[in-house]
Amino acid sequence: MTVQNQETADWLQSVRWNSLEDRLDLLDQRLLPDEILYLELTTSEQVWDAIKQLAVRGAPAIGIAAAFGVYLGIRGVNGSREELLAEAGRQCDYLATSRPTAVNLFWALDRMRARAEALLGPDSDTSVETAKELLLDEARAIQAEDEETCRLIGEHALELFQDGMGVLTHCNAGGLATARYGTALAPMYLAQEKGIALKVFADETRPVLQGARLTAFELQQAGVDVTLICDNMAGAVMAKGWVQAVIVGTDRVAANGDVANKIGTYSVAVLAKAHGIPFYVACPMSTIDLGTPTGADIPIEERHEDEITQGFGKRTAPAGVKVYNPAFDVTPNEYVTAIITEKGVIRAPYAENLKKLFE
Ligand code: MRU
Repeated sequence: MTVQNQETADWLQSVRWNSLEDRLDLLDQRLLPDEILYLELTTSEQVWDAIKQLAVRGAPAIGIAAAFGVYLGIRGVNGSREELLAEAGRQCDYLATSRPTAVNLFWALDRMRARAEALLGPDSDTSVETAKELLLDEARAIQAEDEETCRLIGEHALELFQDGMGVLTHCNAGGLATARYGTALAPMYLAQEKGIALKVFADETRPVLQGARLTAFELQQAGVDVTLICDNMAGAVMAKGWVQAVIVGTDRVAANGDVANKIGTYSVAVLAKAHGIPFYVACPMSTIDLGTPTGADIPIEERHEDEITQGFGKRTAPAGVKVYNPAFDVTPNEYVTAIITEKGVIRAPYAENLKKLFE
């Protein structure tokens, strides 16, 4: 896997299809904010690794990368239509094993699988070469639609905010985690376009520091007023009256409105409730999983203990100490003031109102 330096753009695209080289260029988010480097990926195994190792992260961005990964995995097939269809299925199954919590990964892979079945099934006579091109187009469409979706989420979310408000966010649900704009950060970008001043507080988000390394970075680059705080400062900042709303992204919304997001989100939701501050969750429809009844049914990824004991190469805990390192937690629906999607703002009762969204 080679890397290449890129100049800082107005906004950084986390996933870029390079049509000249027929490869996937992925911004290596592990190196931010120090270095802006793109990985040049040519195989689905490299995409799997990049997702697993958090070079690309954030629910929608993972789905987009995986969709391109399917194309990279099938483009070398020179056999029959049946062979191409079987390989597309294998690649979808394989890429789905990279991370368990963000449902957007499975949503994007299901969409690629369905497209492959439509193109290569008995009701179609699309050639192998054309089917490959059309599968690449499908991955491109997933990315393009995500940009539009995030902008719409931002427009709906911005209706909940007023000029001068303090808004706290956790982890990174920004442009880096999506095709562009982000989900939770989309209203901040749109506010800036419209001259509405928001004061953003970014939790640093232990242990991988997506808030410090990514949210603070991308908002600062865009000129948004952002203040970085440690996770354990959120309560104190709320008690001072500096926060009028919390907004976060999510990796999966269960059918009853329970929400899985980066570890620490639940604590923020409890703090928000204790201070009478609304707690908003922003996500595309593809993050809502009516097939998962409650938060207790959402698989929560556990990651390596080194993230806590020697994150970023510096040992900060004794070797051999017992460690528990879940990457996500679940916020029960009673803490969620509203869920904001591209279709608008949804409030409780969630079981009923989320279901209606899909009717
Ligand atoms: O482990 P990560 O960095 O992939 O976790 C990301 C989050 O928890 C985000 O808040 C979520 O995926 C929403 S991104 C729009």
